[in-house]
Amino acid sequence: MKKTIAITRGDGCGPEVVEEGLKILKTISDYTEFDFEFKDAPAGGKIWKKYGSNLPEKSFDVIKNSDSLLFGAIGLPDLPPGVAESAILKIRQELDLYVNLRPIKLYDSLRDRCPLKDEFIGKGIDITFVRENTEGIYKDIGEISKERAQSIMLYTKKGCERIIRYAYEFAKNEGHKKITSVDKANVLKPSQFWRKIFHIIGNNYPDLQKEDIYIDSFCQWLIRAPYSFQTVVTGNMFGDIISDEGAFLIGSLGMASSGNINPGKVSMYEPIHGSAPDIAGKNIANPIGTILSVKLMMQESFNSPEIGNLIDNSVEEALNEGRTIDIKNKAFKTLTTREMGNLIVKKLISMLKK
Ligand code: NAI
Ligand code: MG
Repeated sequence: MKKTIAITRGDGCGPEVVEEGLKILKTISDYTEFDFEFKDAPAGGKIWKKYGSNLPEKSFDVIKNSDSLLFGAIGLPDLPPGVAESAILKIRQELDLYVNLRPIKLYDSLRDRCPLKDEFIGKGIDITFVRENTEGIYKDIGEISKERAQSIMLYTKKGCERIIRYAYEFAKNEGHKKITSVDKANVLKPSQFWRKIFHIIGNNYPDLQKEDIYIDSFCQWLIRAPYSFQTVVTGNMFGDIISDEGAFLIGSLGMASSGNINPGKVSMYEPIHGSAPDIAGKNIANPIGTILSVKLMMQESFNSPEIGNLIDNSVEEALNEGRTIDIKNKAFKTLTTREMGNLIVKKLISMLKK
């Protein structure tokens, strides 16, 4: 199965973590029926300094004509905010990447790194946030004057239906028992509209238990009983907030992965962290967020949840042997970025050979 994957290394620690993600993809290409071709699509601050564009046309052409995109992180401390980073928004908008998928899984061996007490972690944390990524209050409809400012929270039928449908399918495919919708239907009209659609589409999924929770209450439940959630679907702004809250529960920002997806079309997979200028170039960044983004790519873009699971198991095994500095534990060897990547590759090869 031939697939072309665009690679954006980006700035700061981006190139370091992407290198490890690439090792995983090359391993899959070497040991399975997948045959990957990689094409560089430079974007971000470094490239802006060189060419005056954070996403040169040539790069965007490569991305548009690929099957998927692995993206590191962009942003440089000596550039004004947004100069590099707006490339991400352009990619999301142009490719209509309406699903923002963010899994929050706490590996058993990282329970000690979770900021919650053991009784609140309970039987474990394994949540996937499905966030609407293109509309809502971030759509940039509004005005600002000396006297007032407003932003319009626009939810459309098409926008709600496609993300909610995706979430239900995701929950079903993952074998989840429950799906939770987060809104503010007691106050906001767009939320009332959303909630109705959530239940209409839900009629097609009789086996899934449906739950509605208001955003303010959810923020509390997420730290009080995170074990009680599986698939969580929500609009753009609420998703932005709760997925960051969730990312803090799994031990390190360096562990968190994400997908920006347009099902069946070219989609973008990236760790949620930024370019981490404070640790860039030191070979100490945690590559697991990027490696788990490759897992999502295999699962969501290449229809191969089996390989996705093997990546997940490889990460879990590696965590029982070594740790990068951000998740350091005296009981295990401290590993560099490259050592952690190599260890996960080793585990993956032995699983793929079985
Ligand atoms: P950041 O995520 O880069 O760093 C926050 C903290 O987490 C730092 O202390 C960093 O060392 C640590 N960290 C991040 N990734 C890590 C990893 N893989 N392993 C271990 N520790 C890690 O966020 P910050 O500092 O706010 O932003 C830096 C730059 O990145 C800015 O220019 C920002 O705009 C950009 N950014 C880009 C994103 C993207 O490309 N999608 C997302 C978020 C920020
Ligand atoms: Mg990123």
